[in-house]
Amino acid sequence: MKQPDLATIKSEALSAIAAVKTETELRAIQVKYLGRKGSVTEILRQIGGLPEAKRARAGATANALRNQVGQAIAAAGQRLRQESLKPGGSQARLDLTVPTKLTFGHLHPISRMIQEILAVFQQMGYEIIDGPEVETEWYNFESLLVYADHPARDMQDTFYLEKGNLPRTHTSGVQVRYMEAHQPPIRILSPGKVFRNEDEDPRHTWMFHQIEGLVVDEGIRLSDLKGTLLTMMRGILTPDTEIRLRPNYFPYTEPSVELDATCIICHGKGCKTCSGTGWIELGGAGMVHPQVFHNVGIDPTIFSGFAFGFGPERIASIKYQVPDLREFWRPNLRFLEQF
Ligand code: FA5
Repeated sequence: MKQPDLATIKSEALSAIAAVKTETELRAIQVKYLGRKGSVTEILRQIGGLPEAKRARAGATANALRNQVGQAIAAAGQRLRQESLKPGGSQARLDLTVPTKLTFGHLHPISRMIQEILAVFQQMGYEIIDGPEVETEWYNFESLLVYADHPARDMQDTFYLEKGNLPRTHTSGVQVRYMEAHQPPIRILSPGKVFRNEDEDPRHTWMFHQIEGLVVDEGIRLSDLKGTLLTMMRGILTPDTEIRLRPNYFPYTEPSVELDATCIICHGKGCKTCSGTGWIELGGAGMVHPQVFHNVGIDPTIFSGFAFGFGPERIASIKYQVPDLREFWRPNLRFLEQF
């Protein structure tokens, strides 16, 4: 076996591969050089008969040739396959199922609503906190003074899971979890899904979202809560939006209030959407009860705070004038594409 033979084989093989036009030709070249009786294979076979001193060097050179030819054949196969798929190529087909117009999706209107609300609060320096969707009874109810036999439990009927866990009925458990781990000053917002065993109607669904807010520091007052809610509502709805706080009852806030905003549709005059009242109920709020502070190790003689929880679906329903909240969760693209 002489080196020039190898060089000749190599240049012949590589130029044949470069010029190849079809996969059949390529297969023939593969057989000619690398097949059982191929010239490269033949050279490799002869190496065993060489004197030991020459064997290693000759073997390395022949193996390198085999690898080079093999790689060139693989690359040419790839090139031929790609060419065959191009228009006019042997594998090209007219595919009538390929979409002619590409469309892009967009955020669900409720996700967008939540992002808008978070943006307003982030400008006010709030931190966004996540909480678990499956809660313990302690965090969902008892730490908030909603004891097992308390009538307030009935307001939030739920689906119970095993071992005293439940899909959370509101986001208020996040307040407790956060206060256990942090001392004031606290200024957080926590959005997320909540679940209730509800009879559905245009204003109630069994799964909806809430956004919980909590502010704790020295000297926080109800007027701070009112100013915060007014800033939020004007930022999200219209700059002329008014709010009102009605007395309400939540075991974990004292005093407790219900937040209403002027109806964006009739601007307070009274219409069908607001049942003629001019106001729409959006959330609950109040000053954190001293016992809740005791439960988490915050001293209520030094600190005070407010908390609120409202439903982005309700806000979206007035902002986008959707009278039935259930529309948001139906798989109806004609509805969702409007946003
Ligand atoms: C609560 O869930 C309290 N945790 C709110 C709160 C937080 C009070 C912090 C005090 C301090 P309520 O059950 O009213 O309150 O729900 C709050 C808001 O969630 C309602 O005003 C409404 O906007 C929304 N909401 C309640 N139930 C539904 C439902 N079934 N479907 C859609 N939205 C709902």
